[in-house]
Amino acid sequence: MCGIVGYIGKQDAKEILLKGLEKLEYRGYDSAGIAVKNADGIQVFKEKGRIADLRAIVDENVAANTGIGHTRWATHGVPNRSNAHPHQSTSGRLTLVHNGVIENYDLLKREYLQDVAFQSDTDTEVVVQLIEKFVNDGLEVEEAFRKTLTLLKGSYAFALLDSQNEQTIFVAKNKSPLLVGVGEGFNVVASDAMAMIQVTDQFLELMDKEMVIVTKDSVSIQKLDGAEVTREPFTAELDASDIEKGTYPHYMLKEIDEQPAVMRKIIQAYQNDEGKLTIDYNIAEAMNEADRVYIIACGTSYHAGLIGKQLIENMAKIPVEVHVASEFVYNMPLLSEKPLFIFISQSGETADSRAVLVAIKELGYKALTITNVPGSTLSREADYTLLLHAGPEIAVASTKAYTAQISVLAILANVTAAFRNQEVNFNLVKELGIVASAMEALCDSKEAMEEIAREYLSVTRNAFFIGRAMDYFVGLEGALKLKEISYIQAEGFAGGELKHGTIALIEDGTPVIALATQENVNLSIRGNVKEVAARGANPCIISMKGLETEGDRFVIPEVHELLTPLVSVIPLQLLAYYAALHRDCDVDKPRNLAKSVTVE
Ligand code: M6R
Repeated sequence: MCGIVGYIGKQDAKEILLKGLEKLEYRGYDSAGIAVKNADGIQVFKEKGRIADLRAIVDENVAANTGIGHTRWATHGVPNRSNAHPHQSTSGRLTLVHNGVIENYDLLKREYLQDVAFQSDTDTEVVVQLIEKFVNDGLEVEEAFRKTLTLLKGSYAFALLDSQNEQTIFVAKNKSPLLVGVGEGFNVVASDAMAMIQVTDQFLELMDKEMVIVTKDSVSIQKLDGAEVTREPFTAELDASDIEKGTYPHYMLKEIDEQPAVMRKIIQAYQNDEGKLTIDYNIAEAMNEADRVYIIACGTSYHAGLIGKQLIENMAKIPVEVHVASEFVYNMPLLSEKPLFIFISQSGETADSRAVLVAIKELGYKALTITNVPGSTLSREADYTLLLHAGPEIAVASTKAYTAQISVLAILANVTAAFRNQEVNFNLVKELGIVASAMEALCDSKEAMEEIAREYLSVTRNAFFIGRAMDYFVGLEGALKLKEISYIQAEGFAGGELKHGTIALIEDGTPVIALATQENVNLSIRGNVKEVAARGANPCIISMKGLETEGDRFVIPEVHELLTPLVSVIPLQLLAYYAALHRDCDVDKPRNLAKSVTVE
């Protein structure tokens, strides 16, 4: 989703901004722009499309040491050059980039800006025009910005330039992520530390409704009433090489291959000196006290939550409900007496999940966030955090975060079970070790998966994924992976449910990918495969060693039955990857999608 960068210092701002925007490309965007400021004023360059398109129009000779940049994921107005950020006020004095959604922009436009001729369809332009209106009324830019912020409803991260003040970038944040990075003789602004890790690893967290005055030598954080805030920077634990593709053609393939290593890292991170799995005592206690756990998440994280429910109920014996965040917030179920909320979010910034977190905090309930990003909004605002230790995930299609989420949920379930004296008749550390080795073997099966993708998915319009029990949930994830990067209409179904309507869609040759990794439903899922095959489908059975029968297309190594999703998802990730590749799709940056979905 939209990304912001800013630089003020002594170096060539345009290059730092463009490099920063390249690092934010993974978030998803459809246009981009920069504004640089020097003694001649502010120059804006913006373009629809990729950063490479923007680079092509930036004047190489422009020398400036201050600037702001933006990648836009369209919300108000189509993706084109005039809706791309930065946006300027009518006089050209003020230039603004924005991430978020201003809910009352239309009202503000009607109330204050009747005479303004707007150049774009965006809510952002209303904000920059409003600041200029207050400047024209006699306020200093800082005060006009502050006054505007107090009138806004919605979410925002802003960076603002004033052509008459070469020394300052004005910044503000509410609900949308934004950090200020600090350096020697320069400071930066970024939606994500990753964008500026090349220039600094020291960042200041910003809280909602804070405004910041950034110069090359100082950072002044203020509340909207003007009160100064003192805050120490934190060190972003990011290795610049973590965010490079290395020799891989795509981040997605690199991240699929990283899964065995991530698995081992998680085991290590959650083991104590005696080799026992452990988590913060307060989390185990909160789990133990809960009469029901509510898992809240979106997309792939929601699919991990479905597996988490099985793990927690099976090991810790606490009832669990799993909800899609965007539904839960407006359609809250009747809650139990002592609920505990678990938010699963790779990015920790997903606006839909955050809306639920805000709502349940208002009701006084406790929350645990499971995330890949320490210091992310969902982590900061929850009572407890468990980290995924998956390293940065850049590809829009989530892969290693999904398996990391399931692993951390398994550890949470296991430790809670011990806390509650619930017997678990297997050794999770040992079983996760077996999973890591099985993952390795699967990552080595790329050729086989490429061939299956070519055979089943290179020309089809649609595909179905079926499974029962945990395989059903993995099928949902397999279908999501396939549709988001290959644009094949793919749906996951419970094996027994297809015949209740959807089987009508089966035609000659329709690919049906069936998972068979669960012993208790092995015969039934094979029965469902026969039903679709009898109607012309082209079934592809992926089974687990020990449950395979003749004709199965791919057999995955055996792991503990509760942990099968950790391995059965890998062939599905690879299938999606190769299907997208065969269809010439942009694997890492699929159309219309954003990595970090920071609007509701
Ligand atoms: O950062 P989050 O885990 O909260 O993101 C949730 C979804 O937007 C995300 O999982 C999305 O579905 C992925 N693109 C799927 O690959």
